[in-house]
Amino acid sequence: MRILAVCGSLQRQSGNLTLLQVAAASAPAGVDIIIFDGVRDLPHFNPDLEASGVLPLPSVIEWRRVLVESDALLIASPEYGHSLPGALKNAIDWVIGSGELEGKVVGITAAVPSPTRGLRGLGALRDTLGAVRATIAGGDPIVKGPSFDSDVARLVGAIVSAHAAMPANGS
Ligand SMILES: Cc1cc2nc3c(=O)[nH]c(=O)nc-3n(C[C@H](O)[C@H](O)[C@H](O)COP(=O)(O)O)c2cc1C
Repeated sequence: MRILAVCGSLQRQSGNLTLLQVAAASAPAGVDIIIFDGVRDLPHFNPDLEASGVLPLPSVIEWRRVLVESDALLIASPEYGHSLPGALKNAIDWVIGSGELEGKVVGITAAVPSPTRGLRGLGALRDTLGAVRATIAGGDPIVKGPSFDSDVARLVGAIVSAHAAMPANGS
């Protein structure tokens, strides 16, 4: 099983990127977690770009390709301005019409300093993923503390279980 890990933060020293790195390093047997770093390269979504033949834009082609090749996603994202980061929203907007994210299992979380942080961002992310009928796994923030690694592993386990339970996968 291949899980595409996507970070909502673009900064180098990112707690959410650290979370994805922990997930990738501790993936269970048979599960590959691949971190995608191309969100930063996507242009602002504009339907005119598709209509005008400016596509193929390499960054958009790559984003759609890695989504097609993935069985599920893990998104770790900060909350910005009581919502999800614009760059992450933009990435999702690029595939709402084209369908590469349609119906996939998506595990979502936020690396936070306390359990009350990040909740509105996760709520907004969940709403946006509703536009592609994603099946959400997890959904709670993960607090940077002693249980961080085990909480990350539990979320990865929830993604694997949700994927196995999809009708197309034999359940
Ligand atoms: C411009 C800006 C806006 C932010 N808005 C919020 C917010 O609305 N709610 C919140 O809980 N944290 C907010 N934060 C804090 C970030 O969510 C926090 O710094 C997060 O850990 C960054 O994630 P990262 O370490 O993965 O980059 C904001 C930070 C910045 C820089």
